[in-house]
Amino acid sequence: MEHEAFGSVVSDFGITAANTPDNPAFWSLDDLAAVVAKGFGLFGAVDPAGRVLGCAFAGASRRRPSVWELRHLAVHPAAGGAGLGEALVAEAGRRARAAGAELLRIGIVAENRRLAAWYRKLGFVATDVWQQYPGLPFHVDHLELALSSLPPASES
Ligand SMILES: CC(C)(COP(=O)(O)OP(=O)(O)OC[C@H]1O[C@@H](n2cnc3c(N)ncnc32)[C@H](O)[C@@H]1OP(=O)(O)O)[C@@H](O)C(=O)NCCC(=O)NCCS
Repeated sequence: MEHEAFGSVVSDFGITAANTPDNPAFWSLDDLAAVVAKGFGLFGAVDPAGRVLGCAFAGASRRRPSVWELRHLAVHPAAGGAGLGEALVAEAGRRARAAGAELLRIGIVAENRRLAAWYRKLGFVATDVWQQYPGLPFHVDHLELALSSLPPASES
């Protein structure tokens, strides 16, 4: 799933296995296991036949108490546009809030303006934008969602 979803967009942003080997488009199963080993829960959406259509990871920030991070959100291109991405973001928010977090944080490719606009629509606000990290061929925007803006658990 991570290969399919990220593999469909990497070339738009000049991302290759050579310049960004840790992009999910190029992961091995060991890379996936390493994210889980850092404390990030893996969850997904499946169709009635049990086929995985999308997945994401969420877990507590190691640096900031009361903050959770959403990572590697991926929806299969053939299942895109049906609301699965939004549902996976909402699930991350529910998990974070159930754990007592106040903010859900994500880092995105800043050049992907369509993605930034989508997260804005979901309630995320930009905190640090156009950050440059050594070795990365793109910039990074950090976005945060205030979990108090979500409906109470009983309504979601
Ligand atoms: C971004 C992504 C998770 C959206 O999943 P989805 O199930 O299509 O999302 P939803 O149906 O809930 O919402 C659709 C919206 O997602 C956004 N979106 C969909 N595909 C996108 C893409 N390739 N690039 C940027 N944004 C995209 C758009 O805003 C779209 O609305 P629009 O068609 O009106 O512009 C999915 O396209 C994906 O896996 N992309 C590749 C990996 C990625 O960039 N993940 C995000 C990492 S931070």
